[in-house]
Amino acid sequence: MLLKDQVAIITGGAGLNGLGFATARLMAEQGAKVAILDLEAADPAGAAARLGEGHLGLVADVTDKASCDAAAAQVYAHFGRIDTLVNNAGITQPVKTLEITGADYDRILNVSLRGTLYMSQAVLPTLRAQQSGSIICISSVSAQRGGGILGGPHYSAAKAGVLGLARAMAREFGPENIRVNCITPGLIGTDIIKGKLTEEKKAEIAETIPLARLGRAEDIAGACVFLASPLSTYCTGITLDVNGGMLIH
Ligand SMILES: NC(=O)c1ccc[n+]([C@@H]2O[C@H](COP(=O)([O-])OP(=O)(O)OC[C@H]3O[C@@H](n4cnc5c(N)ncnc54)[C@H](O)[C@@H]3O)[C@@H](O)[C@H]2O)c1
Repeated sequence: MLLKDQVAIITGGAGLNGLGFATARLMAEQGAKVAILDLEAADPAGAAARLGEGHLGLVADVTDKASCDAAAAQVYAHFGRIDTLVNNAGITQPVKTLEITGADYDRILNVSLRGTLYMSQAVLPTLRAQQSGSIICISSVSAQRGGGILGGPHYSAAKAGVLGLARAMAREFGPENIRVNCITPGLIGTDIIKGKLTEEKKAEIAETIPLARLGRAEDIAGACVFLASPLSTYCTGITLDVNGGMLIH
């Protein structure tokens, strides 16, 4: 098992069809104790219970610093260590540049970018004390190509901000054996795209992807396990594209 006795926190991990829950499941299968953090409405405790015995589900809002700090403290109090943080919580909005309001901008950036900062700040003192840890940030192909399929320009900006933040943290904390890496998923069939694309449109998009299909949540979970595990001990500051070849650069 690649993650035996490790403790992993996954934000936004309660959606059963989402990237976060698929990652939680694969990490648990690989021996990790998992803490799923999510909004109350998403029922993180219920999601954690589906992983089997010994996992934790906590209500936490990544846009709220006190909530992030409290959740990280609870995870540490429960498990006695933290090895991996997956900054996965994110929301999108399919609008064009001229339609983005200030409130839209705040909402989208607060979850992906501010949330990544606040949760990283919440776990870093523990990772420092351990002199080890892996932070994995879920960005998007949208950051690299100026729009994925569904997110607006503020979403691309938020996800590009995540790339910059993660690289800077990788540089800052590398000497303390804390690795920080990003994953840039392509188009993955989760609730975030549910009802927004017809089957014909999905087939059309698949034709433009070298691996000829949309991504599955499990495709991202595998990349997260790699970045959490000892298989990636010399990787930091990297951007791991998991997009079926949608963007080759
Ligand atoms: N699905 C895709 O095609 C795709 C592509 C690239 C990147 N991503 C990114 O992957 C991540 C996961 O997305 P998904 O597709 O699984 O969607 P999803 O909607 O299933 O998951 C997002 C989760 O984040 C949670 N969340 C929202 N606001 C939160 C907050 N303030 N605090 C804590 N949790 C919060 C939601 O409750 C939900 O469980 C997101 O960051 C998304 O931007 C998705």
